[in-house]
Amino acid sequence: MTRTSDEPGAITIEDPVILTENLSVSYEGHQVLEKVNLCVRKGDWYAIIGPNGGGKTTLIKAILGLISPGSGKIRVFGQDPKDVRERIGYVPQYQTFQYAFPIRVREVVFLGRMGRMKGLFQRYGAEDSRAVHEAMARMRIEHLADRSISTLSGGERQRTIIARALAGEPDLLLLDEPTVYVDDLSRDIFFSSLTRVRETCTVLLITHDISVVHAHVTKIACLNTRLFTHDSDQITDEMVAQSYGCPVDLITHGDIPHRVLERHNRKEADEC
Ligand SMILES: Nc1ncnc2c1ncn2[C@@H]1O[C@H](COP(=O)(O)OP(=O)(O)OP(=O)(O)O)[C@@H](O)[C@H]1O
Ligand SMILES: [Mg+2]
Repeated sequence: MTRTSDEPGAITIEDPVILTENLSVSYEGHQVLEKVNLCVRKGDWYAIIGPNGGGKTTLIKAILGLISPGSGKIRVFGQDPKDVRERIGYVPQYQTFQYAFPIRVREVVFLGRMGRMKGLFQRYGAEDSRAVHEAMARMRIEHLADRSISTLSGGERQRTIIARALAGEPDLLLLDEPTVYVDDLSRDIFFSSLTRVRETCTVLLITHDISVVHAHVTKIACLNTRLFTHDSDQITDEMVAQSYGCPVDLITHGDIPHRVLERHNRKEADEC
């Protein structure tokens, strides 16, 4: 049974990492999120899909405490999001990083340690080096450590930016369209690299690319102003059609283990 997140009883889990209750957000009178009830638990790899403009990035910004809800509640690790920012790693949808800037991959990843530093003029120490090394290993970019970021491929850059987020040793990783500029092969490498991240980190993955939803995702929801969740961890025609307003082809590809998702009715899709 598909349900919208505003139905009573949608949230029953104790101690969630992210909990929103009837979260609503508007920009200049235009409602972008309506009564969103999201519950992400420790260890989840939670994927949210949805059409352009559906409110996915807005939801991420609310989880980061960058925008305040018009109404409803949001708690991250049981607290106000602003009070737990150092526990959150964030990979934004559009990289504002100046790739022409002459900086090496290792230095970019070290930037992820800044939030962990207490004093203004503190230097990086052994603990920082260890965290940076581990983050690069997880994203399989150690061999690129001395390369200038400007010489990397799109997929390598993306893995570098994620390593920067991991270097801060977050308890929660928010990924907003992490594979949007990445080809199929890099995308598969990228998701394989992320499997180990879940050992220490809860992951919320935002995407409108249904093909990236694969075996490692533990929960899936669709967001189009309202959040459509489902009793199982499978995505169905019904919830996608409700979210997108019409049936959408559900495909997976690549050599990594993947879920076979339900097919939609071709006639309906043609009419859409
Ligand atoms: N600062 C803002 N001021 C006014 N409207 C905004 C602002 N930010 C976002 N919006 C609008 O809110 C809606 C949701 O935007 P959002 O970026 O959350 O969508 P999204 O689901 O991330 O879309 P996409 O898949 O294109 O990334 C869009 O209609 C967008 O134009
Ligand atoms: Mg977005």
